[in-house]
Amino acid sequence: MIASNRTKTGKSKIPGKAWEGRFTKPADPRAEDYTSSLAVDFRLLEYDIRGSIAHTRMLVQCRILTPGEGRRILKGLDQVFKEWKAGRLEACRQDEDVHMLVERRLHEIIGAVAGKLHTARSRNDQVVTDLKLYLRHEVAKIVQGLSGVQQVLLKLAERHIQWIMPGYTHLQSAQPVLVSHWLLAHLEAFSRDEKRFQQLLKGSLDELPLGAAALAGTGHPIDRKMTAKLLGFSRVTANSMDTVGDRDFGLEVLSSAAICGVHLSRLAEELVIFSSVEYNFLTLDQGFATGSSIMPQKRNPDIAELLRGRSGRLNGNLVTLLTVLKGLPLTYNRDLQEDKEPVFDSVDTLKQSFFILPPMLASLRFNQTRMEQACGRGFPNATEAADHLVRQGVPFREAHAVVGRVVTAVAQKGLGLENLSLAEWRKFHPAFQPGIIQDVKLSRAVGAKSSQGGTSPARVRAVVAQHRRRLFKRKTIKSK
Ligand code: ARG
Repeated sequence: MIASNRTKTGKSKIPGKAWEGRFTKPADPRAEDYTSSLAVDFRLLEYDIRGSIAHTRMLVQCRILTPGEGRRILKGLDQVFKEWKAGRLEACRQDEDVHMLVERRLHEIIGAVAGKLHTARSRNDQVVTDLKLYLRHEVAKIVQGLSGVQQVLLKLAERHIQWIMPGYTHLQSAQPVLVSHWLLAHLEAFSRDEKRFQQLLKGSLDELPLGAAALAGTGHPIDRKMTAKLLGFSRVTANSMDTVGDRDFGLEVLSSAAICGVHLSRLAEELVIFSSVEYNFLTLDQGFATGSSIMPQKRNPDIAELLRGRSGRLNGNLVTLLTVLKGLPLTYNRDLQEDKEPVFDSVDTLKQSFFILPPMLASLRFNQTRMEQACGRGFPNATEAADHLVRQGVPFREAHAVVGRVVTAVAQKGLGLENLSLAEWRKFHPAFQPGIIQDVKLSRAVGAKSSQGGTSPARVRAVVAQHRRRLFKRKTIKSK
């Protein structure tokens, strides 16, 4: 890969900086080190070269370069790319960023004609183009990662389709739900993330910045639509001043990543809680848990904890870029160079999450007995008893109060509602019918929630079938 952007002094034939005509004194090495972004933006190299290839072709087509000049530039760019692939591309101190590195090396290979590549272009529109090209590639991968997570959640839901667990509000036992319904709740969140990222691919990431030049456009007769087509963008951006200073697309990626991080961390949190001995709803596979160096009994959910913890970076990265952008005057300012680290970090963090989460989820073992026992403790079927009374014409508020008193009495004896006889129910209210015995059974309680989006097995099975069609039968999105 890259040797170092700080260590090697240039032996290039091109002297110093691109702007040296205006300067009488070389840059202070400390200033060079401080302003260099090469260590970070080096990962854009491939996209920088792709952008330059399209730009060159367009310049030739528009007769701004001769075909011969175009050929030499394209050949040179190809060699730079090959050197990079082979890990032989070395940086010099004067390469302040990846764009200057490519141009300097191109000059070494093909001579002065390399200088023509930058006709009708500025690093200001070049860097935005590179970043968008990079993000189009990475966002497509993120979409695939999100679909992988959903596929595993769906398979788990299918495998535990009719298992029952307590559902919680305020982390207090609330109503029984199907384990599959709980898994699908997390799946829904990830499917929204997937849509959000997909929309970016059709939205701001589908507009070509190149051609905005430094800030005002260019007098050269370029064809931006042609460059867009060559690079796979559907449209070109509308305003050159906006284009070079706009990083909304970065914010959109970062906010989508942060929202996705919220979802990852909420799922991770539940895995942490539910795998504790106190809950014991599920067991983490040993391959995805860690032990303690001192406490022999431990099986710690470190991966889930790190999924939860790393989502903090996703929030932080969004705030970083928002803060960089806030109050910046139009158009390009060097502050904008600070856009890349948060973007790269969020992309990496998400990709790591999508790499580890599916196999960890797939290896979970659910403990049916424990989850059903837990349903017997927190009275999650109390609403069913109240609804039973409502069906006999008792106003809901009154029914609520009656069942509240039943729960208090039963709790004192350490029993569940399913332990009461009809006679005992009737001591609290004469409207209780024999059907109450069945109505407070867990399977009945779950089955009764048949409203659209509810936890009844019939509803859940229908939702599973919909997701199955979407997740397993559609074409995967190809990265551009
Ligand atoms: N490295 C710079 C960045 O990432 C490239 C653009 C530099 N343009 C300039 N006029 N200094 O933003």
